[in-house]
Amino acid sequence: MDLAAQLQSLRDQGVAAVAAAGDSDELEVLRVEYLGRNGKLKALSKAFADEPGERKRTLGPILGETTEALRSAFADKMSALSRADEEESIDITLPRQQQQVRGSIHPITQVAAEVERVFCGMGFDVIDGPHIEEDQFNFSLLNIPDDHPARDAHDTFWMRHGRLLRTHTSAVQARVYAQEQPPLRKVVIGKVFRYDEVDATHDTTFTQVEGFLIDRDIHAGHLVATLKTTIRAVLQRDDVELRLRPSFFPFVEPGFEVDVRIPGSPGRFGQWVELLGCGMVHPEVLRAGNIDPSIYSGFAFGLGLERLTMLRHGIDDIRFLNAGDLRSLHQFAS
Ligand code: PHE
Repeated sequence: MDLAAQLQSLRDQGVAAVAAAGDSDELEVLRVEYLGRNGKLKALSKAFADEPGERKRTLGPILGETTEALRSAFADKMSALSRADEEESIDITLPRQQQQVRGSIHPITQVAAEVERVFCGMGFDVIDGPHIEEDQFNFSLLNIPDDHPARDAHDTFWMRHGRLLRTHTSAVQARVYAQEQPPLRKVVIGKVFRYDEVDATHDTTFTQVEGFLIDRDIHAGHLVATLKTTIRAVLQRDDVELRLRPSFFPFVEPGFEVDVRIPGSPGRFGQWVELLGCGMVHPEVLRAGNIDPSIYSGFAFGLGLERLTMLRHGIDDIRFLNAGDLRSLHQFAS
């Protein structure tokens, strides 16, 4: 092989070997091998010195380029390795970076707190119930027996041993009636689960507020007054309109659905929006809990907290609330 070809292959080999070096120790070994006093480049330089004068004229630039290529390959690799070293090392004495993003209370939680505040002001206890529920509390004790067609309305997530993810917070009514006697004023706020198609107004998991009051001489007027007070307080507007439509839920009689409208509001919320189901607690439900319906009566309602939050903030897609996107949620930081 003539000297030009040898220089060329030394250059190619050396540059490749340097690029592949994993750390500075390996790089040093290569440096000695290629650029050292007894290294490969030196050997070829000596051979160059023995070449006749006219060959030197053509070989000189090749030798120069080879030397330059190898040196700069080493220099580049050296600085790349030391940069990587710096990035890896952690200086524990450095002061902590100022926190840029502050957490904030989720809009649902904010509205839930507001609802609790309003109900506490009206003398209600705030209570809780399990997400994993037994059939009897979710259905049977609420006047929804096994073969009742109303069970079809609840697309339910069933679990083993006849347990299920509660489809509504009304299950907590059944739990309370089984244990306590009137007067009762309770409010429950919690997640419920339905095997539902997800769209702008439905999600498989959402939050309900269940309120119920059982006492002597309670009638639908108390129900309507309680709902008006609460909804107006939470939406912070006195002009919110409510509309009751007759509806069927097996655990109330009579039953209603309540729509609300915020006059002058742009888009959907200027129209009637369905917000909750309610009614007078069915005598069968009271009887199932050993409460005498000839003495006591009461009302109950179940309200979608996401809907209420959407109304309050003018949000038109329920998925927004559970997507966990901090950029959007921060708009509602309080
Ligand atoms: N549990 C009903 C539902 O989830 C709402 C409701 C509660 C209706 C209380 C009447 C009384 O759809």
